[in-house]
Formats: sequence, structure tokens, C-alpha cells
Amino acid sequence: MPVDQNTPIPSLGFGTWQIKGQDCVHGVREALNLGYRHIDTAQAYENEAEVGQGLKASGVAREQIWLTTKVWISSLEPKAIVTSTEESLRKLGVDHVDLLLVHWPIFKQATLAQILEAFVGLQERGLTRKIGVSNFPAALLDQAAQLAPIFANQVEYHPYLDQSPVLEVCRKHKVHLTAYSPLARGQVLQDPVLQEIGAKTGHSAAQVALRWLVQQPGVSAIPKASSEKNRKANLAISEFEISADDMARVHALARPDGRVIDPPFAPNWD
Ligand SMILES: NC(=O)c1ccc[n+]([C@@H]2O[C@H](COP(=O)([O-])OP(=O)(O)OC[C@H]3O[C@@H](n4cnc5c(N)ncnc54)[C@H](OP(=O)(O)O)[C@@H]3O)[C@@H](O)[C@H]2O)c1
Repeated sequence: MPVDQNTPIPSLGFGTWQIKGQDCVHGVREALNLGYRHIDTAQAYENEAEVGQGLKASGVAREQIWLTTKVWISSLEPKAIVTSTEESLRKLGVDHVDLLLVHWPIFKQATLAQILEAFVGLQERGLTRKIGVSNFPAALLDQAAQLAPIFANQVEYHPYLDQSPVLEVCRKHKVHLTAYSPLARGQVLQDPVLQEIGAKTGHSAAQVALRWLVQQPGVSAIPKASSEKNRKANLAISEFEISADDMARVHALARPDGRVIDPPFAPNWD
């Protein structure tokens, strides 16, 4: 398996949560054909087989695609981590993923150290190029990065949610941050400040939110878009830049109640 450890994660990815069945096959194929090179899935999305079919149908070479999947909380125990990942690869129809994440920090069946040891074992076997975590608050990320070579932390991040404590730890350990729900699940679309900034260059509030994310060093974003129109619009954020003053204005939109994904099993975010 050719492993190029230097290939960077593409800054704009295609999120596939809640895209299922033929919509998922079609969506992944179309995203790749439009130019996306980063696809995000998870065991819990129950669409890995369809993501795999979309990859094949696109005709894009496997080595050009960054593929991320995540181990669900019910499998966070060393043996289940291995068997569930092998199952993910079978469903995806690939011999490795580029990034394998701990989906949520739930330590009921094993300690963080045991979980990460199992992830490192999978990396050593070549089943994933990189390992990482998701939904890890700053202090927990700091701990994880001292235990294993954490490549990325995938967390909710958009203009309404400040993630500076997590970003600080990411920068300390050279951990990449992938922003999920980068449009706050649609909440930012009518924001007057984002609209005003976008109007200067003929872009939408959604495009400004995504551009603001990927313009930050070490940050990528994985919006979900069901339509071709939105998929194209999101890719087009490479066409423009946001000035330093406008970047600061977007940072100032963060609010204390900005988090949109907070399931009952979520960690203490502070
Ligand atoms: N690690 C985790 O625990 C975790 C948790 C949540 C999400 N994620 C990942 O992050 C991905 C994205 O997050 P998300 O699905 O929660 O929400 P999101 O990407 O913030 O928002 C998706 C919504 O934005 C709309 N949209 C997308 N592009 C648009 C555009 N250019 N203009 C206007 N509207 C646009 C979509 O509409 P249409 O669909 O109609 O185009 C959809 O309603 C997920 O698919 C998943 O891969 C990970």
C-alpha cells in the first residue's frame, strides 16, 4: 500500500451524515466528479457501503481521495475497535482509510490509553494512514496527544461557536482541526454580517462561513450538501479571500449558546 505521510488533508470535504442509500452513492460520486477530494463518513452513519460505491462509480483514483471514517461508541474496546474497523474497510471497499477517528470520547469499556493503543495498532497494520479523535475538548485532546500521534480532532466549529481553547491545544501539538457542522446546520445562512461580507465579492453567507474556517491555519471544513447547487457553491470558496478585518468580525459572532450538536453522552465541553 503506497503511504504518502506528507499528503495534506484537503481543506474542504464532503460530509455524509444523514445521506443514505442511492442519494449517498450519487452524492459521493457527484462530489468527487465536481472536484471534492475529501469524504467524511462514520460507522454510525450507516452509509459506508454506499460511500464505497460512490467512490468506485466516480472513477477517481483511490490515492487522490482523503477518506475519513469513525469508530462508534459501542465499539470503543480494543477487540471491537479492530473488528469494526475491518468491517468498515470491507463496506467501503478499500484496503485502508486515510483517517480513523474515535467518534466520541466515551470510556465505559476501555481507557483512553487502551483505545488509542488499538488505533495505533491499526495504523501500524496500514489499515489507516492517520489516527485521530472527534469531539475531544481541549484538556482531553492535550491528554490524547501525549499518548498517541493524533493527526486531527474533528469538532463542531462555525461562526457561532468559539473553539479557541481547542485550537490552542491543536496548535501546541500540531493537530489538525476539522470543522463539522460548519454551517451550524443551516443557522448561519441568514446572518447579516456574513451576508454583508459576502456581498462584497458576490458570495453567500454559507460561503463566507466556510471560507472563514478554511482560511484559519490547520483547519478544514466538511459541510453536508444534498444538492449539486450547494456542492458547487461550497467548492467555489477557493475563489475568494476574506480580509483580516472581516475575519475578526466573523470571530466576533461567537455566542455562548452557539453549540448545535450536544447529545446526552457528550463530554463536559469546558
Ligand atoms: N464527528 C461528529 O460527531 C459529527 C457530528 C455532526 C456532523 N459531522 C460531519 O459534519 C458534516 C456536516 O455537518 P452537518 O451535516 O451537521 O451540518 P452543516 O454542514 O453545518 O449544514 C448542513 C446544512 O447546510 C445546507 N447547506 C450546505 N451548503 C449550503 C450552501 N452552500 N448554501 C446554503 N445551504 C447549504 C445543507 O442543505 P442541503 O443538504 O439541502 O444542501 C444542510 O441543510 C456531517 O455530514 C458529518 O460528516 C460530524
